[in-house]
Amino acid sequence: MGARIVGGYATSHVPAIGVAMDTGKTEEDYWKPVFKGYEFSRKWIEDLKPDVAIVVYNDHATAFSLEIIPTFALGCAAQYIPADEGWGARPVPVVEGHPDLAWHMAQSIILDEFDLTIVNEMEVDHGLTVPLSLAFGQPEAWPCPVIPLAVNVVQYPPPTGNRCLNLGKAIRKAVESFDEDLRVVIFGTGGMSHQLQAERAGLINADFDNAFLDKLIADPKAAAAISHVEYLREAGSEGIELVMWLVMRGALGDDVTLRHRHYHVPASNTAVGHLVLEPVE
Ligand code: DHB
Ligand code: FE
Repeated sequence: MGARIVGGYATSHVPAIGVAMDTGKTEEDYWKPVFKGYEFSRKWIEDLKPDVAIVVYNDHATAFSLEIIPTFALGCAAQYIPADEGWGARPVPVVEGHPDLAWHMAQSIILDEFDLTIVNEMEVDHGLTVPLSLAFGQPEAWPCPVIPLAVNVVQYPPPTGNRCLNLGKAIRKAVESFDEDLRVVIFGTGGMSHQLQAERAGLINADFDNAFLDKLIADPKAAAAISHVEYLREAGSEGIELVMWLVMRGALGDDVTLRHRHYHVPASNTAVGHLVLEPVE
């Protein structure tokens, strides 16, 4: 029957969430309501038992410096080492890849006219490891192989939301044309509203974020039409990370079932949003 996408998992990737988990602070008053919103999805993914996770995330000048900035970089490696982002590497397992599916995706998506960068060696930062921690907790080894797809949202110009939605559709086609019987979950990560620098540092916009969640679920084309300037104005300079949620959404097909929705402020400098979606077969 071949591979198929069985679920979508969207979440913010705030580094302090990783620190809270790594240092046993999740029960503290500040963090409790953040993590409460991930209890349902921890169980959901444990029951789902995906064979592979495609994690759409952004690198924060960790693996890619300003010397080389791929717009879309697909990890085809067998392993990805958690990066040292300045305070030592997070105490989380090495991320095992799935080279067979990743190379198949590279072929299918590039021949579908998306010019991906192929990456055979890459360290992964909080953009990838924090969502894995939220989804899977603190295991000895991650429960499934991971295919990282890094999107440039750090250096202008990032891809448009519409390009990201269409890339998601190409990912769906790629997965569905892989012969092996694999159940694949796709992660969209980053966001929601936040700005880490300059005059508007600390900006949060709950109205924008919730409207984005509504659109992403029920009207992805409308979500894909949000311009760069609108993200910048409404969701702050790092709010642009939300285009990565559109890649996930595109991979789920037109109609989805909402399994879980969570929104919480504060968490460090960022509004935390989280969705669990399933494709309607
Ligand atoms: C924060 C959020 C991010 O998305 C990030 O990459 C770094 C820091 C924060 O809220 O502190
Ligand atoms: Fe970020």
